[in-house]
Amino acid sequence: METVPTLDVFARSRSRGRRLVLLTAYDVPTARLAARGGVDALLVGDSLGQVLLGHTSTLPVTLAAMLHHARAVTRAGTGLPVIADLPYGSFHIDPRRTVRAALKLVQQARVQAVKLEGGRRRRDHLAALQDAEIPVMGHLGLTPQSLNRFGGYKVQGRDAKSAEQLLADAQFLDEAGCFAIVLECIPAALASRISASVSIPTIGIGAGVGCDGQVLVIHDMLGLQDDFQPRFVKRYAELSGAAVAAIAAYAEDVRAGRFPTPAHSYDDAHGAAAETGDHGRRDDTDTRNR
Ligand code: KIV
Repeated sequence: METVPTLDVFARSRSRGRRLVLLTAYDVPTARLAARGGVDALLVGDSLGQVLLGHTSTLPVTLAAMLHHARAVTRAGTGLPVIADLPYGSFHIDPRRTVRAALKLVQQARVQAVKLEGGRRRRDHLAALQDAEIPVMGHLGLTPQSLNRFGGYKVQGRDAKSAEQLLADAQFLDEAGCFAIVLECIPAALASRISASVSIPTIGIGAGVGCDGQVLVIHDMLGLQDDFQPRFVKRYAELSGAAVAAIAAYAEDVRAGRFPTPAHSYDDAHGAAAETGDHGRRDDTDTRNR
């Protein structure tokens, strides 16, 4: 029987002082790569707007897009808990609309939880989600859906007043029943202070080492996006260079007649496998059976 992934790892890791590792995933390959690398949970972030869809912010990302990608991530069958972002607009009007959006993510895309940006101003939406038994991950700091209000992608909580507001928002999210809070682009000292003052794990991105865990966008840390390297990203690979080199080699081979070779070709019903170099692999149905 299929085992249902749970969110237990969040509370367990915090109580054991073990740091949580999260990555974004947007489809089957990224979900499986992240799982094979040993992360604790997958986040279907609305960063897919920029990373996959060519938007300049997360604001145009629709619920339909979130459902499409979240379905693919859960279909990957990694056994890891999957959290999906509630997109912009889904928790800014009527809390019933928020619950409807979250229910779709849980029922149709089979995610374990949703993530929602903001603190005390989301009080009613959070309460409605709790009533609907939907676990919520909070998100404070440089919340990308607040881009226009912030006037750009700017580090948050640098002055005493906004730091106190973030601290109060974190405590509110804890009391409101969130199971974790993402802290994005805030000073490291403030993130440590928040982490020490709440009972749930904090997951940092651009928030220093004092959080209970970290999250990165998978395309950023794999170096799949040449043109985006903010301070908070550490690149663990340079895959875009490797991918471009591989594609260039393929193009050269095709143009020079070096690909395909007999080893990549099929013989006819009378042909000899040895001549075509297919090593006796005669079953054409294997071509798509990975
Ligand atoms: O959308 C996203 O990928 C996120 C993470 C970067 C926290 O919200």
